Amino acid sequence: MKIMGVGGGAREHALAEAIARSTYSPKVYWVSELRNPGIYRIVKKTGGEYALAKTTDPIRVAELAERWGIDIVVVGPEEPNFHGIPDEVERRGIPCIGAKQKLSIIEMSKAEMRRLQWRFNIPGKLLFKTYRSYEEAIRDLEKHAETLTWLQNVALKPARQAGGKGVKVVEDVQAYLRKEKRQFKERHIRWIEQYMSKYGDIEERILIEEKVWGPEYTLQCFVDGKTVVGMPLVQDNKHAYEYDIGPETGGMGSYTGKGYLLPFITKEEYDRSLEIVKAMVNAIQKVTGERYHGFIAGQMMLTEVEGPTLIEMYSRLGDPEGVNVMAMLKTDIIEIFEAIIDERLSKVKIEFSDVATVVKAMAPKGYPDFRDLAKNHPVYVDEKVIEEAGCKLYWGSVHLNEDGSMKSGGSRMIEILAFGDSPQEASVKIEECLKKKPVRLLDGWQLFYRTDIGSEEMIRKRTEIAERVRRLYKYREERGILGKRVDWLPKVGRIDPVKNLLEELKR
Ligand SMILES: Nc1ncnc2c1ncn2[C@@H]1O[C@H](COP(=O)(O)OP(=O)(O)O)[C@@H](O)[C@H]1O
Ligand SMILES: [Mg+2]
Repeated sequence: MKIMGVGGGAREHALAEAIARSTYSPKVYWVSELRNPGIYRIVKKTGGEYALAKTTDPIRVAELAERWGIDIVVVGPEEPNFHGIPDEVERRGIPCIGAKQKLSIIEMSKAEMRRLQWRFNIPGKLLFKTYRSYEEAIRDLEKHAETLTWLQNVALKPARQAGGKGVKVVEDVQAYLRKEKRQFKERHIRWIEQYMSKYGDIEERILIEEKVWGPEYTLQCFVDGKTVVGMPLVQDNKHAYEYDIGPETGGMGSYTGKGYLLPFITKEEYDRSLEIVKAMVNAIQKVTGERYHGFIAGQMMLTEVEGPTLIEMYSRLGDPEGVNVMAMLKTDIIEIFEAIIDERLSKVKIEFSDVATVVKAMAPKGYPDFRDLAKNHPVYVDEKVIEEAGCKLYWGSVHLNEDGSMKSGGSRMIEILAFGDSPQEASVKIEECLKKKPVRLLDGWQLFYRTDIGSEEMIRKRTEIAERVRRLYKYREERGILGKRVDWLPKVGRIDPVKNLLEELKR
């Protein structure tokens, strides 16, 4: 059997490793833009081939699959989905694990995702507005400055998924800062408009969303067009530095607890989150008429207004979250792929090891805001030290040269995983390992990572927040006001922003 993967990060390395574990003993083929050293090794070991190519070029990728006589293609990152790689591969008669272009809209357009959720009345919604231009947004904000209070506390987002860049959350509660906050919002909306101009595939540019607050978690799933199977919950941590400060990154580390849950999320909350993802799959299949074969994920937040709430969706596994679950997966992944292709996923018993995991990402200084500085540094990794510490190494943004030397690609370079009885235990294992400095840049350029991922203190903090939010949403639930928003304004009276939004959507 020949399996071909698309994409070259640590998530794809974890996928390749799961594929190589299969009892089918597949030959592994791969296409990515940098030559990932970990994937390359798997490819060589199994007798496959590795090609460097643009992974957003459907013709090029599909041609490679055809030429190599591939049986199943699996797509790692989102951009190949957005560009229709699965569509072109399947058009040539090769089954593909990956969301087709129209289905991947659920991730590509945060605006479309939200609209779908409101249209189908799927729980975990947030109020939102979208705009095509800066002028349109500013005019609307001014018009509603006094009448829609939710518009003061908002998340400002590019309406298209922009590689984890550009979301700013602004709380505007102090009257004396109102002018400054407004200026900040205006500046950021201008930035979004400009940033979005490089994408020609979407008309809406700016998304403004009601601001919420609570612990975040990711629920990743397998989908075969009929059945959605949830995996263990993972929490990713986006900020570059300890204590959740610094710029937002693609994710600096993630952890899982035992028994599918995180220490601060209940079984009931898991089930509700899964219902939300299932309903979203149904909705997107209904409006597109396509069958969803691949991975999907809900990036969730526990909030006081709605309980489990959808922040955004992935049409793929998360990175680093995908590394946690792929390392835990016990069931043969090719068996799962075949079941997805034949739409009989409900018949397969999918099992994960009952352990906790922690993943920590390491990146060169400069990432994420000055990637050029983080690029082209010579990389050295002492794999033996990592192995002896009981940890696992996943290669990320690193390019393996022909002569065997390696250079950094500018993004997250390495992900280190450890298993444990609890995230805390796994986290300590990684700390012990990294103290020995097994990963270095030979020119002395510095690497950074977060020591606090999965730590005792982090989990205590997340638990406190979750308990507070849970008390509030349960209180609302008991009174039958979950999801209700009410504004009351002098001289205007009662305003129901949900009703307004629903009316707008009908237009
Ligand atoms: N409506 C919101 N209220 C509060 N925080 C939000 C909201 N939307 C997003 N965020 C925060 O911003 C982060 C990034 O937003 P997200 O929509 O996931 O964009 P991306 O991951 O593409 O950058 C989230 O992980 C969350 O912490
Ligand atoms: Mg996100």
